[in-house]
Amino acid sequence: MFVDLLLGLQWGDEGKGKIVDAISGDYSIISRFQGGPNAGHTIKFGSKTHVLHTIPSGIFRKNLVNVIGNGVVIDPIIFQQEILNLDKSDINFKQNLFISKKAHLIIPTHCLLDKASEISKGVKKIGSTLKGIGPTYMDKTGRNGIRVGDLLQDGWENQYTKLRDKHLNIINNLGIELSYDIEKLEQKFFNSLDFLKNFTFMDSEIYLHDSLKEGKRVLAEGAQGSMLDIDFGTYPYVTSSNTTAAGACNGLGIPPNKIKKVIGVFKAYTTRVGSGPFPTEMFDDIGKKISIVGNEFGATTGRPRRCGWLDLVSLKYAVDINGVNELAMMKSDVMSGINKIKICTSYRLFGKETSRMPFSLNSKNLSPVYSEFMGWNEDLTNIKSESQLPNNLKKYISFIEEKLEIPVKIISLGPKREETIYR
Ligand code: GDP
Ligand code: IMO
Ligand code: MG
Repeated sequence: MFVDLLLGLQWGDEGKGKIVDAISGDYSIISRFQGGPNAGHTIKFGSKTHVLHTIPSGIFRKNLVNVIGNGVVIDPIIFQQEILNLDKSDINFKQNLFISKKAHLIIPTHCLLDKASEISKGVKKIGSTLKGIGPTYMDKTGRNGIRVGDLLQDGWENQYTKLRDKHLNIINNLGIELSYDIEKLEQKFFNSLDFLKNFTFMDSEIYLHDSLKEGKRVLAEGAQGSMLDIDFGTYPYVTSSNTTAAGACNGLGIPPNKIKKVIGVFKAYTTRVGSGPFPTEMFDDIGKKISIVGNEFGATTGRPRRCGWLDLVSLKYAVDINGVNELAMMKSDVMSGINKIKICTSYRLFGKETSRMPFSLNSKNLSPVYSEFMGWNEDLTNIKSESQLPNNLKKYISFIEEKLEIPVKIISLGPKREETIYR
């Protein structure tokens, strides 16, 4: 059996959670492979809205196993809150949620370091969610991190104290005033570790191999988006993990030849939250309209998301890096009522047109080149089949498919599970 991958192609918040939840019935196992509680994956069904940060988006389906893979970083305090928020949802966490022993822990001083780092950068700050993601991955690659499996071994407390003291020294040396009460933070942290220990810790890479041998289907759920990838995103305005397809191999222990379908999720427009270049960003009334109608506010931090036109240069780049073979297009319902819609098909860089991703998008000498499309006015939310879609939207989709050379297989027309067309 094979693993399918689902990941974001833009700067995050494409609607990954909705699609994972919607298609998870086709799988036995859903697994997160990178990122941490910087993610906010929204799932709506019935009258309920849930936002998941660490837990995979298959958690609401019965008889489905959810795995938090080794590539994920876990903040036990946020994890506990997340579980308690879901507690009333009739989920059997003992059977349905497993955690890799090799996943790294976010400790309270990682979050303090994140804050200190952002303050020290001043106007050049990343716009981090301040969840301690960067510092935790730094300790992982620096070989100083604490892993979930360490909690079952003697001596990890000494490792913790050493790490905490190192962090506090760094903060002191930065000369940045941060107000915090370390004892309070630690009390909460240690309580949450007791809670975490109620869950099943496992060698998830072995579990996944065995499951594939038994013929089970696995879906790997990405967090963030390809343009936030530590290697291929708009560095340094990125997150600290590999959000692209190869991240699933590292973050789950899955060999590349076991990956079959790669589903790339994108919005019919673009959003970005946090700092960094965004060539197609809109500063006009259309941008404001999209922000309001699309409810473009961060699911984790509540910050307003910046809105822009669809950018086919970065999208094509993301498709190529990930080996995407199927697309899911989200939120075209939000664009109803816009007379003329633009798509960026190339960039003008120092006067020369290119459809290739340049080394950096930071340059003031870079501007988008647009194609224009007639918009659509219909309310799309009750549309149940492709034939009912407005003609101008069909043209918009065909243009995207032609440029990206892969099919749009899923068209999402609203936040709920059932507001989805499969082609
Ligand atoms: P994720 O991080 O990729 O899972 O995406 P988020 O949950 O952060 O953001 C996507 C937002 O768009 C959420 O509020 C979803 O409920 C909402 N959403 C998803 N698909 C659609 C859609 O097709 N139409 C509309 N209007 N909203 C959608
Ligand atoms: P999901 O999974 C959108 C952004 C932050 C910031 C940069 C670095 O919901 O799509 P970090 O906290 O990782 O140090 O922040 O990355 N960012 C996201 N933007 N969606 C996300 O996750 C994000 N996770 C991080 O805003 O610009
Ligand atoms: Mg999100």
